[in-house]
Amino acid sequence: MTTARKFAVKKIGIIERYQEYLPVTEQTPIISLNEGNTPLILAEGLPREIGLKNVRIYYKFEGLNPTGSFKDRGMTMAISKALEEKSKAVMCASTGNTSASAAAYASRCGLKCFVLIPEGKIAKGKLIQAYRYGAKVVMIKGNFDQALELVKEITKKTKITLVNSINPYRIEGQKTAAFEIVDDLGDAPEYHAIPVGNAGNITAYWKGYQEYKKAGKSETLPQMLGFQAEGSAPIVNGKPVAKPETIATAIRIGNPASWKGALAARDESGGLIDAVSDKEITQAYRFIAEQEGVFAEPASAAAVAGVMKLAKKKYFKEGTRIVITLTGSGLKDPDFALSFDDKIETVEPTFDAVSESIMK
Ligand code: F0G
Repeated sequence: MTTARKFAVKKIGIIERYQEYLPVTEQTPIISLNEGNTPLILAEGLPREIGLKNVRIYYKFEGLNPTGSFKDRGMTMAISKALEEKSKAVMCASTGNTSASAAAYASRCGLKCFVLIPEGKIAKGKLIQAYRYGAKVVMIKGNFDQALELVKEITKKTKITLVNSINPYRIEGQKTAAFEIVDDLGDAPEYHAIPVGNAGNITAYWKGYQEYKKAGKSETLPQMLGFQAEGSAPIVNGKPVAKPETIATAIRIGNPASWKGALAARDESGGLIDAVSDKEITQAYRFIAEQEGVFAEPASAAAVAGVMKLAKKKYFKEGTRIVITLTGSGLKDPDFALSFDDKIETVEPTFDAVSESIMK
């Protein structure tokens, strides 16, 4: 016989799941939306497409987090700690996802949330999230890098807590994605591909993989493969980009805050950080949606494009596993999704008109 108790909803946020690896105590209030525990989806079409018969590729689909991006892992930590430290307000600069996540977690616990975003360069889905979760949204006539400088200055001069990824609790939370991958695969993959913007996430994954290995949960470490967009590739070029450009607005960043962390991840893991063009990003974006049934945003597709590019150069060894982090949901950016030539047709509500349309 089953009892109601058996069906009790188990809380599965990343803090509860991985608390022994996180800087929390019994005093830490846990502000969670049950983030994390995202699926590791086996790629079916991609290995065929790029001629990797004996390589398994997985998508770590972070678009399935509560606000549709990986930022929720870091934000549950940053907001919980802000509350523990009696903060009353938080602030971030954002290309969109950080602000959506900060706004959601802040709204859940009554913290004020201020977000600074670059005018015209943020996907609509992200903008409406921050707005509807009740944050005070301010657009600047400038880019992300300028917004972050302003947020650093304001949070230094006030009691407002900064929740960009230079807040170390963000990295702590985000490292749990690497834990989940090892838990699912039974070991670390040989390669981990990830888009790079402000470089917090590649820093977090590398930290996570290393800590889990030290704890005896894995025997190996992956090569970290980071990908920037060609027009916003400061780490690849070795110098900041004053006017970064790319259709992948989430990673339109010219001077990443965690630059050093990204270099450490690259060098210590024996990996690389490379650039992919907007055309390659767009092809990868369409490929995973149209042939794999996985709808991720353009920035996420940069990592897929990177794996496609490296496969052409025969980079990957036989019999290995590649995990690609798909950082955000495709639903975030409806304007980009609808910007292609294959427009949706509107026809008369008749059998003939509909038949003609679908047979085209
Ligand atoms: N992918 C998506 C969907 C992102 O939103 C971001 C960063 C990245 C990749 C890159 O991650 O910065 O840790 O290297 N978005 C930040 C934001 C900058 O404001 O939402 P990163």
